[in-house]
Amino acid sequence: MRSMKIQKHFLETLKGNVGKRPPFWIMRQAGRYLPEYRKVRENTGGFLDMCFTPDKAAEVTLQPLRRFDMDAAIIFSDILVIPYALDIPVTFVKGEGPKLEPSNSPDALKKIQLKDVVANLKPVYEAIEQVRAELSPEKALIGFCGAPWTVATYIIEGGSSRDFTTTRQLALQAPEAFSHLMDVLVESSALHLVAQVKAGADVVQIFDSWAGVVPNEEFNNWCIEPVKKLITRVKTLCPETPVIAFPKGIGFRYSNYAELTGADAVGVDMTVPLANMVGLEKQSAVQGNLDPLVLAYNKELALKKAREMLTSMQGKRYIFNLGHGIIPQTPIENVEALCTLIREWK
Ligand code: CP3
Repeated sequence: MRSMKIQKHFLETLKGNVGKRPPFWIMRQAGRYLPEYRKVRENTGGFLDMCFTPDKAAEVTLQPLRRFDMDAAIIFSDILVIPYALDIPVTFVKGEGPKLEPSNSPDALKKIQLKDVVANLKPVYEAIEQVRAELSPEKALIGFCGAPWTVATYIIEGGSSRDFTTTRQLALQAPEAFSHLMDVLVESSALHLVAQVKAGADVVQIFDSWAGVVPNEEFNNWCIEPVKKLITRVKTLCPETPVIAFPKGIGFRYSNYAELTGADAVGVDMTVPLANMVGLEKQSAVQGNLDPLVLAYNKELALKKAREMLTSMQGKRYIFNLGHGIIPQTPIENVEALCTLIREWK
């Protein structure tokens, strides 16, 4: 007898085989809003120690699915493992976010060279193998990286920033040095995504969290082209793997983003009206975009919005998600109510 291939609702939707309800997951679903995550976190030294201890990374990756039965798990890691693998010192200070040794001059940027990121990030792939072994076969596993622009902002600013002035200044004043950094990031991110797929990721997501601050004149150079190159590299080596790109805050520029970059799905933030999401779906699958603050602070409104989204996107290539990461203040009960609504949607 021929063995039946187990279908993954998540992957089928990306291919255009749409079911009654959309598949769903929640950005930052493994995180501090979960008591079981906080418990593992308390018993581990630093945040990166957690990312690089396969048992722990695998455990917290699976935690949200045990509670909420999402259609996909996302490997517990961070976009800043790429600078780490390029030998740029990265630390996470409690309550302050990430701190990197800033590379904020043309010379400093030129010194950043491609390293064997796949050797340096071995624990991430081991964690993926462990998750894949435990995850039920109808669930998808998402690998990820940051987009070159977003990761470059952390490398140049030395952490989070309000307006990314130094990054924008360097990109304008020293385009060659900046371009060099972007090329290193495209290549190292491609190698990292491909290694995640080889380890068992079914789909990959590229987070361009700060695409929204790039002025329109530079948008093609610093957001579209690097992501397009990255996707092309991944597709050459893993032609079957769908790519979701999530450029946050790009407003009007969502209209042709998937077409320009070659992404199979575009993630949209909570500023995008539902009517526009419906329109975007003609080009690619769409993922998003419930406001994480509505989910945290107004359960009834969250459920009302979710019903509207489910109704408008019914029959379309749509992945239900938030418009950005879930916040630590979110009551479990609200997440439960949302997930139940989606799971039972007909
Ligand atoms: O989604 C998931 O559950 C998978 C894990 C994941 C993390 N970070 C774990 C994490 C993913 C996909 C990310 C992506 C990420 N990391 C992005 C892109 C998405 C976005 O939010 O825009 C960015 C910009 C980062 C960089 C980063 N990592 C920042 C700015 C911070 C500090 C802010 C914060 O939320 O605390 C982190 C730390 C981080 N990454 C935490 C988690 C669970 C919290 C640290 C902790 O638990 O101590």
